[in-house]
Formats: sequence, structure tokens, C-alpha cells
Amino acid sequence: MKDRIEELQRKISGFLIENATQLEQFRIAYTGRKGAIADLFADLKNVAPEDRKSVGALLNTLKDNAQARFEEVKARLEEQAAAEGQQAPYDLTLPVVPNQLGARHPLSIVRERIIEIFERIGFNVSDGPEIEDDWHNFTALNFPPNHPARDMQDTFFLEKNPDVALRTHTSSIQVRVMESQKPPIRTLSPGRVFRNEAISARAHCIFHQVEGLYINENVSFADLKNTLYHFAKEMFGKNTQIRFRPSFFPFTEPSAEIDISCQICSGSGCNVCKHSGWVEIGGAGMVDPNVLENCGIDSEKYTGFAFGMGIERITMLKYQIKDLRLFTENDIRFLRQFTAQG
Ligand code: DAH
Repeated sequence: MKDRIEELQRKISGFLIENATQLEQFRIAYTGRKGAIADLFADLKNVAPEDRKSVGALLNTLKDNAQARFEEVKARLEEQAAAEGQQAPYDLTLPVVPNQLGARHPLSIVRERIIEIFERIGFNVSDGPEIEDDWHNFTALNFPPNHPARDMQDTFFLEKNPDVALRTHTSSIQVRVMESQKPPIRTLSPGRVFRNEAISARAHCIFHQVEGLYINENVSFADLKNTLYHFAKEMFGKNTQIRFRPSFFPFTEPSAEIDISCQICSGSGCNVCKHSGWVEIGGAGMVDPNVLENCGIDSEKYTGFAFGMGIERITMLKYQIKDLRLFTENDIRFLRQFTAQG
């Protein structure tokens, strides 16, 4: 036993400790609860009773020496680390300050989601200018010359040239696509539109629409209904109901307004749906043959459907936002609440 103690003493004295890792290795091997010294103490019971006292004393000395060395080196290493810490340009022990991640604007999230849904069923994305001429915004779309929508009240015209206006709807992009492409056409056109409206919780002079257009042989109203039904379920969930109300637009015949079952009360009636259970998300219809002809498409051979929806409207329903002005105030307390998965 005495030999083992001596041998351990030698090992302990020769053990090199120059850093925290080695210090910890030292503790585990020798001074720790499961270390070599503890092992020897456990063996003390096998020592002849008459020797036990002296061997015990030797063991205690060994233990005290080892512990003292441990404490001494530990203090030295800590001192060193503190001194280096003061000199280092950065305190690497400080907790990380997380980068604040920005959030996507809810209108962008919803616009991309709409595009995603339609791209999966074969629609591409097309674009057009925000500054339009009368032909693309009105005339080609079958607006009669004195149609009230051309009125100065609604449309921002250029004072010096009333042929130039800010587009009042994304339907103008339909015209540009049909003028430049041959059927089959399946396209989606999101964009900003402008109307001379006073800004309130429910109206704005700048807002966003997305236009859809499908032109091919034998396109029917059933295709329109199915497409929008598919969209509503993808956008708002599989229990969403959709209905078409007869309506009028100069560029479609027949025309309809599209309602979905109210997202807030699921159809049972609330303030948002004015207790009807339905909320409007846009307009739609079969493209009027006059519009096809205006754009150089043979209306005997081709038919098509079109729809236009308000992106603000859909976003408000999806996230239960009650005031349109929140979209443009850019208050980060509002904007921070949105994540891409919606
Ligand atoms: N352009 C219409 C609006 O701004 C919306 C619309 C209705 C678009 C019917 C369409 C359509 O393509 O078929 O109110």
C-alpha cells in the first residue's frame, strides 16, 4: 500500500497542468470522487489493522498535497484568464446579442401565397405599367366612352394629357398580355392600383389587386368556378365555401362577384360579414368577346375567364386586420407580427 501511495505521489507531482482542460483531467484522475486517491482510501480496509493508522496518515497527506496543488493551479489559471480578458478586444464570454430579423410585409406574404397557388395550376406571372393609357385601362376593356369609371372622381388622370392615367385596376395587364401573346394564356398579374378615394379604414387611394386570365378553346364558366374554388380552399382552408353573385363589368359577360364564407364567424354571422356569413373578395366573369377582338384574339375560336381580387381584402380576412391604413403606416409593432407561413 505504501508503495502505491508513493507511486501515486510521483505521478501527481509529475502531472503537467498548464490549462483548464489539464486541470480538469487532473481532478478527474486524482482528487475527484472517483479518482485514484479515493480508490486508495477505499482499499484502506484491506490494510492490516496495526498499519492502518500510519497508512491512513500517509494517504491524508497525499490527498492534502494533491488538493492544495489543484487549488493553487486553479487560482493561477483564473488569474491568468482574467488578465487576458482585460487585454482582449472582445469579451468572448458575453452572451450573444441576437440579430433582429425583419418580417415580411403581410401584403407581400399574401401576394406570394396567391402566386404560389396559381403557379401550381399552370399560371405564369405577368406585369404591366402603373401609368397607363386610356386604351389599356378602359377602351380595350369595353368601357363605353361615357362610363362612370372613367370619371375624374375615380381616376388619377394627367392634367395635361387625359389619355394618361394611373391604372385603376390590374385588368389593364390582361389587355397587354392578350395583345402580345397567343392562346393558350394562363396568367396572373399582381400589382398596385390607384383610385381617387379618401383614405379611411376601408378605402385607400393606393391598393393592390391580382388579376387572373385564362384563354383557350372551350374555357367555360365551370372552369372559372372550379379554379376560384380551388384557390379559396388553398388560401383560407378546406372548409371555405365560395359563391358567385351575378354582377356587371364591361369586360366580362356574364359577370359575377365572388364571395367566400366569412373567416371570422365561419358563416354564422358577425360584424365583418355584416351578419350575412359571406364576404366579397373580388369580381370575375367570362371575357367579353369584344375584349378578345380588341386584343386580336379570335372570339369564335377562343373563350376565357378573368378575375380580379383585392390583395388587401384577402390579407385583412386572412389575418383579421380591421383597418386598411395599418398596411401603409409601417408601424413595426404591426409588421413584426407576420411570418411567412402565415
Ligand atoms: N377590374 C375589376 C375591379 O377593379 C375587378 C375585376 C372584375 C377583374 C371582373 C376581372 C373581372 O378580371 O373579370 O373592380
